Amino acid sequence: MQTPPFLDIGIDGIGFYVPQERLRLADLAHARGVDPAKYIDGLMLEEFAVPDYGEDAVSMALMASNRALLKSGIDPHSIDCVLVGTESAAYAVKSIAAILSGMLGISEHAFTGDLTHACASATCSIINAIGLISAGLIKRALVIGTDVSKYPIGSAGEPTQGAGAIALIISRNPRIARFSANFGKISGHVNDFFRPNGQDTAIVYGHYSIDAYLSFQQHAYDDLSRQIGPIDPNYWIFHSPYAKLPVQFFRQLMLRRKINDSHNTGNGSESLGSSFPSADQVQILKGKGEISCPDIQLLKNLDWNDFEICDLHHTIQQELRERLLPSLFVSRHFGNMYSASVWSQVMWVLENYARDGDVFYFGSYGSGATAISGLLQVQPNFRSIIDRPPIMLDSVRTREYLTVKSYEEHHENNCLILPKITLGRISTLPTEPVVTKNIGIQGISLSFCDAGCVLPHNKDLSYCPQGHFGRFNRFFPQSAKITHLRKTDFIDPLLEIAHNGEVPILGIPPVGSVVELNFRKLRQDENKLLQWAPVYCPVPSELVTEQDYLVEKIVLECASTLHRNA
Ligand code: COA
Repeated sequence: MQTPPFLDIGIDGIGFYVPQERLRLADLAHARGVDPAKYIDGLMLEEFAVPDYGEDAVSMALMASNRALLKSGIDPHSIDCVLVGTESAAYAVKSIAAILSGMLGISEHAFTGDLTHACASATCSIINAIGLISAGLIKRALVIGTDVSKYPIGSAGEPTQGAGAIALIISRNPRIARFSANFGKISGHVNDFFRPNGQDTAIVYGHYSIDAYLSFQQHAYDDLSRQIGPIDPNYWIFHSPYAKLPVQFFRQLMLRRKINDSHNTGNGSESLGSSFPSADQVQILKGKGEISCPDIQLLKNLDWNDFEICDLHHTIQQELRERLLPSLFVSRHFGNMYSASVWSQVMWVLENYARDGDVFYFGSYGSGATAISGLLQVQPNFRSIIDRPPIMLDSVRTREYLTVKSYEEHHENNCLILPKITLGRISTLPTEPVVTKNIGIQGISLSFCDAGCVLPHNKDLSYCPQGHFGRFNRFFPQSAKITHLRKTDFIDPLLEIAHNGEVPILGIPPVGSVVELNFRKLRQDENKLLQWAPVYCPVPSELVTEQDYLVEKIVLECASTLHRNA
């Protein structure tokens, strides 16, 4: 492939969050009286993430952003733009970006805003960030894709649910990957998928949405190809509502490339080796790369001989295995994360497969509809950031499986987390943030009124609009050890934070357990005003070693070092 022009703007930091609770598709199939092969082979899915109580687009965005800042060592005060792509807004009016900027200590002088274009929302936000940086209006943007994908119980869309958030820090001189100077794009008024106001599940014309996806992905590819010529990346990464759909599109793309353009043979880059990815992963592609009978007939009508058709078949199989399959792990295990989907796949391939200089093609699709395509080039030394924990693989190691009954309860009740909360003290709760060299701030600072409502950092607005008195600051470290637990029947965790200096802790872990900073929606008042605040979650024992964890250094060490042995 000729080297297309790349910008000196790209990804300088990245962080991911997915709920720990999952549902196995085989269990769902049994409960719905469906052949499990339909979900596992027909849609190529294994399991999907289910948000826990109090877990939503805001809490997941807080976690992903915090991780992106920690992994990249970027000071939140240096971020001068926060853009959130989501279709799971917390409020009809009030941006998630504003909530994040206040809670994460982003510069007060940042542009903030949310953008909605179904699953392409985060990609549209990235394009905006690139434009603002190019124009010299901002220096560094935090862009988040955060979504809960939810369809009615028993509907055709149910197996394709999921949840997760991805945060990207976009700037000049990116340390992870830089964007191409050109993008493919296509938009139109298509009613394939929509969620009416006031409804929490989407309405989708499933098979029509598949046709819209296939058509728009193709047009976005063609548009980019017209601008930059032949495209032969090391990895193909397409928005993946379920893993089978990118495979279906890829087969179509490879066939059309071969028919339309002899330059685009699809095997221009060196082979990555047949043992890569692993044999059991390759197994899921069994039969998926076959050229269909109508396509064989089409090729024969174009005077292709059997040898050429076999050769094409071999090329498609190899490309599928080596260049598409790596990204599909994400939707197979976390489900559809809507706006977070394609960028979580980018992170997964960066973590697990990429080498310096590799080029990724990304094809983002958002129902309604739009598609945006582009290239990313991996920067030298990207591993110095990407490999810093927590890595995405940790989220696979520590999942918890729900029964179908408890998944249905989660699905029906968007309730707060209170039944699962204990109060406790942790080993240290300093009042001032600690900044560590190259790692950033190891915790977050929040201000509360006496009733526990979160107040803005802005000193002019230091009072609570609900008429409560008082204002005090708390610093919440990234990681800690529980020193004291208090079980109580009825609690308002925000009040306890305000008056007792205790913190909400998820579950009833034993005293001495290692916990880490997480976020949950903790309160919804009569005006439907929502409050998100820190909740400490136990770190699964398999991810903690004494060597990794030293209480004395609690606020000096990156919380994420808890997750892995070096
Ligand atoms: N064993 C193996 N495969 C099976 C099977 C079985 N027992 N039963 C069905 N299948 C295959 C089908 O052949 C089909 O494969 P194909 O796509 O190659 O034709 C696949 O499983 C899905 O079956 P289908 O009958 O089409 O499923 P469905 O009508 O229940 O719904 C969606 C599928 C994707 C339309 C539905 O899940 C949906 O609406 N999802 C949400 C919307 C979405 O994600 N759209 C994508 C664009 S954004």
